[in-house]
Amino acid sequence: MIPDDVIEQVRDAADIVGIIGETVELKRTGTDFRGRCPFHGGTHRNFAVIPKKGMFYCFVCHEAGDIYTFFMKRLGMDYPTAVREVARRVGITIPERTGPTGPDPHEPLFAALATAADWFARQLRENTEAMKYLESRHVTMEQAQVQGLGFAPRGAAFLDAMKGLGLREEVLLEAGLIVKREDGSKIPRFRGRLLFPIHDLRSRIVAFSGRILGEGEPKYLNSPETPVFHKGQLLYNLHVAKHGMRKAERAILVEGQFDVLRLTLAGFEEVVAPLGTGLTEEQAALLQRHTAHVILLYDSDEPGLRATFRAGDVLLRHKLRVSVASLPEGEDPDTLGQNKGAAALEQALKDSVDVLERKIQILERKGFFGSLPGRRRALDRLLPTIRAAADPITRDLYISRVAEVAGIRKDVLQREVDPKEQTLTVPYRPLPSLTVLPSSAEKSLLLLMLAGEPWRARVAEAVDAEEFEFPVYRAVFEALADDAPDRLDETAARAYEALQAEGLGSEQPDLLFERAVNRLEARRLDREIARKQEEIDLAPEKEKARLTVEKQALANERNAKRPTWKIIEHARRKGAPGS
Ligand code: CTP
Ligand code: MN
Repeated sequence: MIPDDVIEQVRDAADIVGIIGETVELKRTGTDFRGRCPFHGGTHRNFAVIPKKGMFYCFVCHEAGDIYTFFMKRLGMDYPTAVREVARRVGITIPERTGPTGPDPHEPLFAALATAADWFARQLRENTEAMKYLESRHVTMEQAQVQGLGFAPRGAAFLDAMKGLGLREEVLLEAGLIVKREDGSKIPRFRGRLLFPIHDLRSRIVAFSGRILGEGEPKYLNSPETPVFHKGQLLYNLHVAKHGMRKAERAILVEGQFDVLRLTLAGFEEVVAPLGTGLTEEQAALLQRHTAHVILLYDSDEPGLRATFRAGDVLLRHKLRVSVASLPEGEDPDTLGQNKGAAALEQALKDSVDVLERKIQILERKGFFGSLPGRRRALDRLLPTIRAAADPITRDLYISRVAEVAGIRKDVLQREVDPKEQTLTVPYRPLPSLTVLPSSAEKSLLLLMLAGEPWRARVAEAVDAEEFEFPVYRAVFEALADDAPDRLDETAARAYEALQAEGLGSEQPDLLFERAVNRLEARRLDREIARKQEEIDLAPEKEKARLTVEKQALANERNAKRPTWKIIEHARRKGAPGS
């Protein structure tokens, strides 16, 4: 028998909306959540989840109950099994009476990480260098302590202390707290760093993120992947934010630990950050369980915007409503909160605009809609966002909006967004496999970026990561565009170094730039023409004429990009020989 008070406690701790929301798509209506009833398989949103009462109810088939009944009815569990299942999710241990199934095999890791966190926190209180750093970042010691921050001193003191507390080296290694050197000796992973503990959904410490005090490389060092830490599957501060999100009916996504800290200190509970990578699909799915609306609060510079739109597309794929908040030039959420306080942050959030609208604003500001080719390129930038929108209503609104700004017919855009709807038989072909060989145009663009400014920015501006077909080059492009070469994997890092060694040589940068950008655009047009031809081949007779006209328009555009023509013209303008 499970004691009644434990059953109560588990029920209270359970997040009924989050748990039911894993299998039933729920939308907020007032204080309740509605979805299609999983019991009678309804097609309308007649199924209500009422978090205040911890209940669900279907207005049509009248199935009703609490979180336990939900599991029993949905999965055929008996009552104790359902209670245990819910208890497991909320992190409450129910003492096992019917034969021991054994303790959590990761228990030693959690214990080691918690012990380490305590020790790091004490170091922070006692280390003047760390204290000074905190001060320089406008965080008081008290605030740091409440947030559980720590400090890892240089040297081997950590290892000695942990051994003194009876922790074994194997466990510390598995927890990612120490590393083995080539000569077999072991040293602490984190040395001379301010540490942010990373918690899982049950508020257990599973990893750390370490900020170097002052300048140095890498700026942030995270725990490695361990049996309890998978960085792509967790968000920083989610254990707190999952409650805050429900109350605030939104999530605020920021770039890093200091941003989370600053917003937390300013009173925001619904704030999370990825863990040193771009936002992953799993992270978006996690957010989707707790909220319907995400505000992206990233830096407003070029790399920040790139990351913003990349994250935006991921979130849209998970049917989230996505807004983008803008920050004054040179500020990030941390500095803005520091300098102007919570009110300025709240204002920035209030002024946030829908992610597609933000993209349009930026393209407008850059004059993309002023010319025909500009419009075409603007469309190319907007299409991925429209395609990402998995929510059919959002998608339709996006199509209408883009048709309006780009001055094209909605049905034409509709076909472009989703060629499937035109002729179901034309499969979207990513690219023939031979094109994954490195292309010289892609390489030229990377060489230009490596030559520094203004070329880095100009290339980042002119092309999209998706236009790089060679995956390694695409990775290098993204790293260069974001100014974050330290995030490359091994293969990409090697390519990066090779390119760096090669250099631009005697090539004329502006000529190289024009040729390469043209080449990429020509390549894209070739693909579109091929696709259009397939469509023509498969289309009913009465459609063929119209499609052929569309194909001809693409072909004309393509002809204008003929490399020889461009180069000759360029040379003539420059008064070079050959004119
Ligand atoms: N990051 C990382 N590894 C790096 C650099 C950054 O994991 N080498 C992650 C960190 O989570 C960081 C986030 O990416 O917070 C954003 O990076 P950046 O903008 O460079 O740092 P800030 O958040 O501005 O950090 P700080 O304010 O400490 O300078
Ligand atoms: Mn910062």
